[in-house]
Amino acid sequence: MAKSWSPDSWRGLPILQVPHYEDKTALENAEAELATFPPLVFAGEVRKLTANLGEVAQGRGFLLQGGDCAESFAEHNADNIRDFFKVFLQMAVVLTFAASSPVVKLGRIAGQFAKPRSSDNETLGDVTLPSYRGDIINGMGFTPEARIPDPDRQIKAYRQAAATLNLLRAFSQGGYANLDHVHQWTVGFLAETPAGERYAELADRISEALAFMRACGITPEETARLRNTDFYVSHEALLLGYEQALTRVDSTSGEWYATSGHLIWIGDRTRQFDHAHMEFCRGIRNPLGLKCGPSMEADDLIRLIDILNPDDIPGRLTLIARFGAGEVEKHLPKLIRAVEREGRTVVWSCDPMHGNTIKASNGFKTRPFNQVLQEVEEFFDVHHAEGTHAGGVHIEMTGQNVTECIGGSNTVKEADLSARYHTHCDPRLNADQSLELAFLVAEKLKKERDQNNNGVEKKAAIIGL
Ligand code: PEP
Ligand code: CO
Repeated sequence: MAKSWSPDSWRGLPILQVPHYEDKTALENAEAELATFPPLVFAGEVRKLTANLGEVAQGRGFLLQGGDCAESFAEHNADNIRDFFKVFLQMAVVLTFAASSPVVKLGRIAGQFAKPRSSDNETLGDVTLPSYRGDIINGMGFTPEARIPDPDRQIKAYRQAAATLNLLRAFSQGGYANLDHVHQWTVGFLAETPAGERYAELADRISEALAFMRACGITPEETARLRNTDFYVSHEALLLGYEQALTRVDSTSGEWYATSGHLIWIGDRTRQFDHAHMEFCRGIRNPLGLKCGPSMEADDLIRLIDILNPDDIPGRLTLIARFGAGEVEKHLPKLIRAVEREGRTVVWSCDPMHGNTIKASNGFKTRPFNQVLQEVEEFFDVHHAEGTHAGGVHIEMTGQNVTECIGGSNTVKEADLSARYHTHCDPRLNADQSLELAFLVAEKLKKERDQNNNGVEKKAAIIGL
C-alpha cells in the first residue's frame, strides 16, 4: 500500500540544494504568512493543463516551455513580460502553423526564482561567500549581507509572481493574443533578421487564411479560440517550504494541489527517489516535470515514474531530457525503451540548454547556439528511430536582445557577450535565436507528421482502402 502523504511529509527526509536560514522564527513567520495568501492558480486550470499534456503524451500536440533561467526582482517590469510573451507567441504560432500541431504554451515564469547550484560557495579572489540561490532566497551582489538567505524574499517573490501572472492572463485572455495581431508580436529588433523575415512571411499567410475565414463568417470577434489562448506557468519546485505553504486542498475534488504554478518540475540534482523533493511532488495532483540528465539510468527512471505517476495518468509526467549535443544517442534510447517496455505514458521534452553550457575564454558562462540546435535535432532523430513522439522543448529564453548565447543568424561572438549579458543565472536565447529554434522544431515536426501520414497511406494501400 502507498505510504501516507501530507504537504509536510517531506520534512525530515534527506534534502539537497536548500539554503541555510539562520533566523528560524523569521522563516516560520514567512511560511505562515504565505499559507494565508490566495492561491496563484486554480485547480480547474491545472486539470486542463494535465488534459492538454495528455494529448501531447499520446502524440497529438507539442509542448513549448520556456522563459528565464531565473526571474529577478530587478527585471520585473511590463516591457520584459510583454516582450517575452510576444516572442513566445511567435514561436507558438510558427509551431502551430508550420507544423499544424496544437501547441501547449507553458512559461517558465511567474514563480521561477529558486536555483540549484553546483557549489554551496563562491570564491572571488580570496573571499568566499555562500552562492547566490535565486532572488527568492538571497541577493546576487557579492557581499556577505546580500548572500544571507532572507525569508521575506519569499513574500516578495509571491507578490511578483502574482503580478506577472495577472499581466500574462490579461494578455492571453484580453485580446493581445488575438491571431489578427500576428504581425504585431514582432519585437522591434527582430524585423531585420532572417528569422524575423521568415516570420513576417508566415504571418502574411496566416493573415490571408484569417481573411478567408472572415469571408466565410468565422471571425476572432465571435470565435474565442482565435482571440484568446491558454497560457500556463511553471517553475522548479526547489524551495519546498514555499511550495508547501501554497499547497491547498481543492474543494471540488478534495485533492491536494500546489497552487504556486500550473506545472512544477524536479531538477536533475534533486530527484533522488527517497529524498524530500520526490516526496513532496508525488502527493500533489499538478502535472509534473522531471529533468533527466546523463546520470539517469533506465531502472531508476522507471522507479521514479512509479512514484510520481503510479496510475499512468496521461499528462501527469513530462520527462525533460538534457544530455548535451552529441550525447543524446548515448542516453535517450535506453530511457525511451524502458518507458515503452513498461507501457508508461509520458511527454518527452528536450531541454537543449543545460547540457550545453560552457565557459567562454573571457570567463562568461555561455551556450553555443549551434549546439542547442544540434541537441534538438538529435532528440527528434532518436524519437524518429524509436517510433516515439518528440513531444516538446524546454528552453531558457527572453524577449530581449541579449548577448548571452553565442552564434545564431545575428551572430553573437564571444567578444560580444559583455555587451548585454543580463541573466541572473544561466545564459538565455535572445528573441532572434528563440525564433530560429522554433523554425527548426517546426520543420522537424512537419517531417514527423508527413512520415506518419505516409505510414497511414501505405497501410491503407496495403489493406486496399
Ligand atoms: C534549470 O532548469 O534551470 C536547471 C537548473 O536545470 P537542471 O535541473 O536540468 O540542471
Ligand atoms: Co538554467
